[in-house]
Amino acid sequence: MSDDIEQLLGRARGEIEAAADLRALEQLRVDWLGKKGRITELLKQLGGMAPDARKAYGERVNRAKDAVGGWLDTRKRVLEEAELNAKLAAEAIDVTLPGRGEAAGGLHPVTRTIQRIERLFGDLGFESVSGPEIEDDFHNFGALNIPELHPARAMADTFYVNGGSMLLRTHTSPVQIRTMERHVKEGRTPPIRIICPGRVYRCDFDRTHSPMFHQVEGLYVAEKVTFTDLKYDLMTFLSRFFEREMEVLFRPSYFPFVEPGADVHIRWGERWLEVLGCGMVHPNVFKAVGLDPERYTGYAFGLGVERFAMLRYGVDDLRQFFNNDLRFLQQFA
Ligand code: DAH
Repeated sequence: MSDDIEQLLGRARGEIEAAADLRALEQLRVDWLGKKGRITELLKQLGGMAPDARKAYGERVNRAKDAVGGWLDTRKRVLEEAELNAKLAAEAIDVTLPGRGEAAGGLHPVTRTIQRIERLFGDLGFESVSGPEIEDDFHNFGALNIPELHPARAMADTFYVNGGSMLLRTHTSPVQIRTMERHVKEGRTPPIRIICPGRVYRCDFDRTHSPMFHQVEGLYVAEKVTFTDLKYDLMTFLSRFFEREMEVLFRPSYFPFVEPGADVHIRWGERWLEVLGCGMVHPNVFKAVGLDPERYTGYAFGLGVERFAMLRYGVDDLRQFFNNDLRFLQQFA
């Protein structure tokens, strides 16, 4: 009989230690200690025993019951802890890992080009200033000697707002007007040496035109500014921008706000490419802002930023700058 108990205990211990999870363990508790469990069955035999044998046997069975209960509890704690650890491991967050998808951004190629132009003209003594994108007729046209019936005023080119009383500036030239006006108002006399980068708007859209694009306006006003100054400064800028000695061509051209005016071309492989417009400030422009055209002369120029960015980076469709396709933009990061 006692061998039976030892054997049973051996089996119970083996099964309990092999229990893979809490559910299997709970089943073992039922199998061994439940109402019809194997240990419980042993107790039922007590009834048919002689009193002294019954006492000794009863004690043995009770100890066996305690032993099985103890192993079950021990195994339960082990399994519970293992389950908790597995859960914690599955939910673990390594706060020391680097973040995902948070790569540093880069400046837009148009912004980089503007900054490059600002730096190069800064080296030549030009200060960078800005002005409003929503303009009135006087600053965008009238003060720039663009007469009432000039084609540039046609609705086809200009976006009018506020029922036609205001417009989106079609070029950065109004900033030269505003800057000279401010100088006069504050009683500051020339020299004035500024560049004005910014957005401009025209009703135009194809491979080389966007309804919004960027220009940089330049203005140098002083006593005795000559076309030679203009040529020297622009040629210096162009060679520095493209990082090589550029072949430059000045071809006579017409802009209402300069006289004489010129288109500037650079040699690009086999071709001459027009890259900016320029000229000597027209006396009517000085008069419009209250500067004496007998005393001051000046030069002005205007360039399209996207065109410079396209040439520098080898981009052949201007619209790519504004599609916001990351595959395109990341090449400049
Ligand atoms: N404002 C002209 C344009 O929109 C560019 C320009 C040409 C600006 C000649 C100037 C200039 O200051 O002198 O296309």
